Amino acid sequence: MCGIIAYLGLQDAVPILIDGLRRLEYRGYDSAGIAVQVDGITQCVRAIGPLSALQKKLSTIELAGNTGIGHTRWATHGSVTEANTHPQQSNDKKISIVHNGVIENFQSIREFLSVQGFQFQSETDTETLANLISYHYSKELESPTQDRFLESVRKALLHVRGTYGIAVLCSDRPNEIIGARNSSPLVLGMGKDEFFISSDVCSFAQHTRDVVYLHDNELVHITGDHFKLITLDREAVEAVRHEVDWDTASAELNGYPHFMLKEIFEQPQAIENALRGRISGDLSSAHFGGLQMTDEELHKINRIILCACGTAWCACLVAEYIIEKFARIPVEVEYASEFRYRNAPLDQQTLIIVISQSGETIDTLAAMREAQQRGLRVLAITNVVGSTIAREADGGIYQHSGPEIGVASTKAFTSQICISILLALHLGRLRDLSFDDGIEIVEALKKLPEQVESILLQSERIRSIAMRYKDCSDMLFLGRQSMFPIALEGALKLKEISYVHAEGYPAAEIKHGPMALITPQCPIFFLACDDHVLEKIQSNMHEVQARGARVIVVAQENSAIHANAANDIIFVPQGHSAVNPILATIPLQLFAYHMGVLRGHNVDRPRHLAKSVTVE
Ligand code: F6R
Repeated sequence: MCGIIAYLGLQDAVPILIDGLRRLEYRGYDSAGIAVQVDGITQCVRAIGPLSALQKKLSTIELAGNTGIGHTRWATHGSVTEANTHPQQSNDKKISIVHNGVIENFQSIREFLSVQGFQFQSETDTETLANLISYHYSKELESPTQDRFLESVRKALLHVRGTYGIAVLCSDRPNEIIGARNSSPLVLGMGKDEFFISSDVCSFAQHTRDVVYLHDNELVHITGDHFKLITLDREAVEAVRHEVDWDTASAELNGYPHFMLKEIFEQPQAIENALRGRISGDLSSAHFGGLQMTDEELHKINRIILCACGTAWCACLVAEYIIEKFARIPVEVEYASEFRYRNAPLDQQTLIIVISQSGETIDTLAAMREAQQRGLRVLAITNVVGSTIAREADGGIYQHSGPEIGVASTKAFTSQICISILLALHLGRLRDLSFDDGIEIVEALKKLPEQVESILLQSERIRSIAMRYKDCSDMLFLGRQSMFPIALEGALKLKEISYVHAEGYPAAEIKHGPMALITPQCPIFFLACDDHVLEKIQSNMHEVQARGARVIVVAQENSAIHANAANDIIFVPQGHSAVNPILATIPLQLFAYHMGVLRGHNVDRPRHLAKSVTVE
């Protein structure tokens, strides 16, 4: 969704805001803007298009000040126009605001304000909020001067229904910024003589690692060299400080042309990070620090529901196969957005696990809260330390993948599968998974980083394969068993990055409809990395080849599938059935990446998409 940044300190705000926006661009990239306090006036500059358009505009303007706010937009209310770009200002230009989220009752607020004489230049819900704050500001003459700004923001927010992470300036209060959040992430950074507010630590981590995460319904008021936190009900809140330990260098390209490629190549390291300290060879098991559940409690679980969105949902489907196979616990996978409204029957022996790279996806967060509301325990697998889901879960496992900036999830996906394997191992060993079977999984996991490394060496070859298919408009991905979710993920990756229409199916299902799509212009990817159903998948290949399909296969080295059995074949190392889904994923990520680049797309910022979906 959108990204926001605010700065107050001794330095020139503009370069800090622009650099912050550059790091936040993954959250939205259809337009951007900043507002800076200059001599009692808030000057606002906005531009549609990428951040470079804003920078170009700024290069012709004199704008120097030490307090400012910035925004990179992913449109929700209103089309992509300069008028709809943030910051939005009140009619009298006193109040300027950047906002991430959606104000659901903005229409009724707008009607109320129109009656009061306010006019609207944009179609955004945010402009409504700017004017609502302005309305309260004009009514707050009774408040002590130092509280007037804070009170007007607080009172405005009391009328708002929806989600927001905001930063607000008031031209009467040049050394102040107010931030507030409800269901959209917001973090305060505290440097030496300076403060930051942002939707993501990565936007200011090069300046300070000392942060406070805001909770829902909290406001932060920065005044000169100090800050205070209060709730919407005006209760004082004690700030809990955290030290962020992410290596900010990993938020740079480091010589790679795109974050997506860099993150694909970081997978050996990300897998090592996911495994580090969690494998016990002696016990042939795995262990975790943050589950907050005893072995006895874990033993009592008789059903697991996995909830997530998008790629993380595909990881849940892989986890279903793995947990059922090795731990013998029934697993169901739900789209978080469906689970939330479905009223599924749940009992106390059901464990809910949510998976979310960002830890901020609104549907996943809402599904988690719904399960907790119904008295269930929720574990979270998340990457972003201190994210809302990580903080609100009853227990959890961090992925430690490092920042994932490319909008398409890659290293986070394979890391989520790794953690699912560890979890299945742990739960299995508490039940009837034998020592020997456990050791086989442990050994397979240990080999994984090196095996992934060897697949990455095929990147150029996969690029030359992609060259042959770059002009197709449709593609099918087929797999059986745990390769079926990988087919879904392969199709998802291809469509989001290359805009080629792609579908994933269980291979046998092709005969029940999709086969009608087969033409030489609709190539088919077969994922043939599961020995147990290899013959079946070979028959499916023959069926489509007989109908003129061009076939690309991902198969294991030493597989019964010969190199000439398909138009193109990509071999991956022989792995244990638990890790094969990871090995089969890497060529699909590389294929999607190269297809996207060859078709001339910005693979780090696919059209209409945002990294972290914080609106329903
Ligand atoms: C696809 C992709 C998305 C995310 C989904 C959930 O490449 O990245 O489908 O997987 O938006 O995001 P998280 O994992 O942050 O909850």
